[in-house]
Amino acid sequence: MAALLLGLLLFAMQSPPIPSRPVVDGGPPFPPTLSPTDNGTTSHPNGTFQQLPQIIIIGVRKGGTRALIEMLSLHSAVAAAQNEVHFFDWESHFQKGLPWYLSQMPYAFPNQLTVEKTPAYFTSSKVPRRIHQMNPDIKLLLILRDPTERVLSDYTQVFYNRLQKHKRYQPIESVLVKDGEINLGYKALNRSLYYIHMQNWLQYLPMESIHIVDGDELIRDPFPEMIKVERFLKLEPQINASNFYFNKTKGFYCLRDHGRERCLHDSKGRAHPHVAPAILQKLYQFFHEPNKKFFELVGRTFNWK
Ligand code: A3P
Repeated sequence: MAALLLGLLLFAMQSPPIPSRPVVDGGPPFPPTLSPTDNGTTSHPNGTFQQLPQIIIIGVRKGGTRALIEMLSLHSAVAAAQNEVHFFDWESHFQKGLPWYLSQMPYAFPNQLTVEKTPAYFTSSKVPRRIHQMNPDIKLLLILRDPTERVLSDYTQVFYNRLQKHKRYQPIESVLVKDGEINLGYKALNRSLYYIHMQNWLQYLPMESIHIVDGDELIRDPFPEMIKVERFLKLEPQINASNFYFNKTKGFYCLRDHGRERCLHDSKGRAHPHVAPAILQKLYQFFHEPNKKFFELVGRTFNWK
């Protein structure tokens, strides 16, 4: 908390950023900030107030970010923003400054930590510097899935979005492969090159500030993953096994909160398209080296194919 206030004070004074870690480029200064008399909070008569987030779920897109924030919200000491805020990655939002960001936050009780999730942050190169500048002590959650599976999930999302808008869509194999080789121009592939994006984050924030949630494990058995999240955030253990039940129809775990049961929206957990085994194999091979680099970078391995 003290560090957060200090960070805000630094902004209010319009001082140049003093990064705690080596920074590649200084970049432009932060846009209009909170006033010097403002400590970064706005209050409500019922004792709740808006505060800048102490926790941000930075991605990855299709990693299971919605499931993670919903599961984290089971904890009474967490207040979660409902919508994706896109403050640090969308210029039109960022230019509105921290007061606007603050206004997007949920009302929280004094004992609560605020969390927002914007999955696009992880792959946006300007975001790590900006988040560090706001609060060098921020805690980040990054949920990752097998990179190949993530690409298929990414394609599926775009496919349904286009379908809804009656737009044309290309079959998966023609976006994945060009002239017999993996199509490096396909954006979804780049988003799954985790080590490239991670390198950028680690220039601004230490590994100790970033907890990686195993998205494949969160699907398979969410409770153990959530215990690790609670520990990382130094939250009193509160989420328990009875908060989760497997819904056979959906094929995923759903949540039970004070007797109320709910599953994620139908847009989460959709079937992925069938991909010819030879192309799938090529994809696995394509990610083999980048995955190794990622494991070395973060000092941890994942059970990816
Ligand atoms: P698919 O729809 O491809 O299966 P995000 O919220 O970041 O967009 O991630 C969506 C993914 O969350 C889904 O991808 C799904 O696999 C995963 N997920 C994890 N836990 C889930 C749960 N309990 N219910 C539904 N989807 C879940």
